[in-house]
Amino acid sequence: MKVTIDTDLQNLSLDSGGSVKTVPLYSKEGFEIISDLWVKVGWDQKYSYTFSWMGRPVIQLPEDMVRTQELIYRLRPDVIVETGVAHGGSLIFYASLCKAMEQGRVIGIDVLIREHNRRAIEAHEMAPLITLIEGDSVGADVIQKTRSMIRKDEKVLVILDSCHSREHVAKELEAYHSLVGPGSYIVATDGVMKDVYDVPRGNPDWKTDNPVTAVHEFLARHKEFVQEQPTWPFNESSLSENITHWPQAWLRRIS
Ligand SMILES: C[S@@+](CC[C@H](N)C(=O)[O-])C[C@H]1O[C@@H](n2cnc3c(N)ncnc32)[C@H](O)[C@@H]1O
Repeated sequence: MKVTIDTDLQNLSLDSGGSVKTVPLYSKEGFEIISDLWVKVGWDQKYSYTFSWMGRPVIQLPEDMVRTQELIYRLRPDVIVETGVAHGGSLIFYASLCKAMEQGRVIGIDVLIREHNRRAIEAHEMAPLITLIEGDSVGADVIQKTRSMIRKDEKVLVILDSCHSREHVAKELEAYHSLVGPGSYIVATDGVMKDVYDVPRGNPDWKTDNPVTAVHEFLARHKEFVQEQPTWPFNESSLSENITHWPQAWLRRIS
């Protein structure tokens, strides 16, 4: 693919294998092409490894955090389950929203919670709203323990951000989807892998071995879910697509 940007002529040309498309630079389409490329370059530069939330590193694109906040404020879940804790920044982020809303708590699952991370999370102002579970997110004991902490009538949002292989995400979707009631979501993050398999830090296997493939397979089996990006509560632009590391991630339960 070759992208040519002409700021004098104010257009952008996209050459994919000989077929050239030219669009106005200052257009929705121009913005989307530049954004897709920006996501790829930023992913390779580890841009998402440069942020923190209330003192803890959070490995996310800020755009994804703001979009998640929009959904959380609308849904007001009783419980947010996240697989993949790392340094705890995303758990602290979700817990801080719960604290501000005076609604909800967070369960974080990770196969390995390093001692310094556990100490920092347990000493944090948000700790009273957080429960940590250490173990493989698809292990029967971990799934059972998570279920035992959630009442049947509670509204649950599940965010899958642990191992992003197709196989693991498929297992997580099967293990956790039944916690999600109608109207709520299970989110298979980091589908960006399918778009960054060809960048220097990428891996050719990710073209198919990624969360989006697992999502498609899950949706074919589970008609009670649809893939649907949450609507933006505020939008005075003509734009409509998230700039994201989480393409096709949002699965809403419809029945
Ligand atoms: C991308 S990081 C999570 C980032 C974190 N959610 C954030 O936003 O800062 C992925 C985490 O998944 C964990 N992980 C990998 N395989 C796992 C598994 N099978 N079960 C649970 N956690 C796993 C890793 O230990 C790592 O901490």
